[in-house]
Amino acid sequence: MGVSFSGSYYKKYSNGPIQFLIKLRIKLDELTKKIRLLRRKFQNKQPRISNATCQITNSLEQAANHYQKNGWAYLENVLSPDFHQEILKNWPKSYYLNPPRKMTKSYNTGFRWDYDISPKIDYADQFPAFQKFLDYLITDEFAKRIRNFAGVNFDLMCDSFLVSSTFVGSQVMPHKDGIYSDEKIKYCLNILFFINGREMPGSGGLVLAKDNELNEIMIEPPKLINTGLIYDVKADFYHGFKPVKLDKFRWAISSQFCDKDYVIRQTK
Ligand SMILES: [Fe+2]
Repeated sequence: MGVSFSGSYYKKYSNGPIQFLIKLRIKLDELTKKIRLLRRKFQNKQPRISNATCQITNSLEQAANHYQKNGWAYLENVLSPDFHQEILKNWPKSYYLNPPRKMTKSYNTGFRWDYDISPKIDYADQFPAFQKFLDYLITDEFAKRIRNFAGVNFDLMCDSFLVSSTFVGSQVMPHKDGIYSDEKIKYCLNILFFINGREMPGSGGLVLAKDNELNEIMIEPPKLINTGLIYDVKADFYHGFKPVKLDKFRWAISSQFCDKDYVIRQTK
């Protein structure tokens, strides 16, 4: 859950006709969910074939020094081209995702997986590339790569997987995650894989900033096609993005890695 929001930022960016429509959408989220469920029911449920192997390139390792020095890193060409293309071509229609539920985080999300539930995403037969992605993120091999990337001397483990897409007016109001000050969690980093999006700014690529009104921006990912942003959730900065402009969007997959002790402990 997000903390340390700015009241004046909230006021400023929850006004206007587009935000009014988003408020309405949020009020009607249960109805939207039912309609989307119906639409999914009438979809062709033929299993799709996935040929590409999930490969996260060594742009991860190349960005390790920057991450360890700054608490964040921006990566280009993060997925192998064939795997990226496969995800791009099979991106789900919005009715496979859940509508937003709050003004502070107003985008579509779905295919959520949290540690302790079997590592199977919803609609895995129709979206096998998502399943492959998760299957790779939870391997010991990738956990080791992430541990080396972060430069820590304890094990890290995949804690979550989430698909999200923005639409006009979507935003994440700048905040820190509750994990920032949670003493039970020793370490936590978030990886965003940007699959597709219009050029920045205004497309909803996550921005990291020193303040909770996005005045002192540290990084605003310049490209949103096969790029990534990794940040230390316990570092002293904020994340969010301003309302998505007309004709802009972004598709992303995010995953959180925390210290293994915490991930295992929370499931007991
Ligand atoms: Fe957050």
